[in-house]
Amino acid sequence: MAEVPPGVKGMNDILAPEVSKWQFVEEKARGTLEAHAYREVRTPVLEYTPLFVRSVGEVTDVVEKQMYTFDDRDGRSVSLRPEGTASAVRAYIERAQWNREAVTRWYYIGPMFRHERAQRGRLRQFHQIGAELFGVDAPSVDAEVIAMLVSMLGEMGLPASALEVNLNSLGEPDERVAYRDALVAFYRNHQGVLDEDSLRRLETNPLRILDSKVPEVIVLNEKAPTLIDTLSERSRARFEAVRKHLDALGVRHNLSPRLVRGLDYYTATIFEITTAAGDLGAQNTICGGGRYDRLVASLGGPATPAIGFALGVERTLLAIAEPAESYEPAISVFFAPMDEAALAYLLPLATKLRAAGIRCEIEHRGGSMSKQMKRADKLRARAAVIAGSNEIASNTVMVKDLAQGTQSQIPVADLEPRIHQLLD
Ligand code: HAM
Repeated sequence: MAEVPPGVKGMNDILAPEVSKWQFVEEKARGTLEAHAYREVRTPVLEYTPLFVRSVGEVTDVVEKQMYTFDDRDGRSVSLRPEGTASAVRAYIERAQWNREAVTRWYYIGPMFRHERAQRGRLRQFHQIGAELFGVDAPSVDAEVIAMLVSMLGEMGLPASALEVNLNSLGEPDERVAYRDALVAFYRNHQGVLDEDSLRRLETNPLRILDSKVPEVIVLNEKAPTLIDTLSERSRARFEAVRKHLDALGVRHNLSPRLVRGLDYYTATIFEITTAAGDLGAQNTICGGGRYDRLVASLGGPATPAIGFALGVERTLLAIAEPAESYEPAISVFFAPMDEAALAYLLPLATKLRAAGIRCEIEHRGGSMSKQMKRADKLRARAAVIAGSNEIASNTVMVKDLAQGTQSQIPVADLEPRIHQLLD
């Protein structure tokens, strides 16, 4: 036997029955996002590398260690997108979207790529449901975005009581200068604890040390000075306003002074949602986001406030305890022809029911009626439609109610109403 070529590590096939749970989650996401007037955007999975270096940040784990970067055949460096915000901003600027509408609400659902150590809830190709809103900096928008997210997760079967919404403010870049000095002084006093990466970041981007995954550094970070106390009165008032709006919307949330997020473009409000629900293990952050009011301008567009989030689909699926099988659609009608002639007779009838949106399967392989009925049972069909020479001669079909075990011979013209009646 030939050797089976393996799939890429950390990249999964999504097949039935799991795919049904995926479709359920995507459908709920679209429902909530569209109800909030977000429109879908579909951007390429490949971008020129500088887009991510300039947005996500040169000194971040994502850019330094995780991107799938290579030269394309023209010799230009391209990267598989590690996240969706950078591409959305690029599209926003290239299209001069601000000329089309003052406020833009976009969402996307699709694969992202990060070369991380693969484990439960952490993949190399994973999927995000993301949303980005451009053009408004009102604190009420921050609260609305977070509330939308919580209600979206509720629709998916993760009630607010199962979620922790953690919130912080990063303030504005100029406000972070003083904090940066305080942080550098703190880490210099504990240099022995810092790993190689953190020591390097002490020089280049000390805030990133707060996001370290090294256990000793995580412990040290518990004692690090917090940013929120060094923010300006204005930034703190803005943050308080966001929290008030969240309270008014009934969104329970925690202040997390040490939350910094792993990407460089954030300003002001940032948030993450974790959950103890389901089967997530250590990777229990299902969602992250925040404001990025400087990013559009830093990539060459006009100054444009913006905010967004991305929900990890795989992690959300692990958090939803319901087994994938329970989202699987059953076949409504199984067509069981007794012979070749009956197959030709039943095929157009199946086509007609399918056009009415009824899920049908027809047996093309022949076989005994008892075998065919076993198959109908396995598919959890609601009804079987059976025909042989008798039915063909009288222009009828035999309809078997597989729940009741009863059957009746009816004219072909009555088939569709009869099936609708059974399915109601
Ligand atoms: P992020 O926190 O890097 O943010 O990713 C968001 C979510 O994607 C995470 O909370 C997690 O659920 C999921 N995720 C990330 N990496 C992996 C992985 N390797 N395997 C499985 N799931 C993963 C962003 O990407 C920002 N673009 C969010 C945003 C949008 N901020 C503003 N707008």
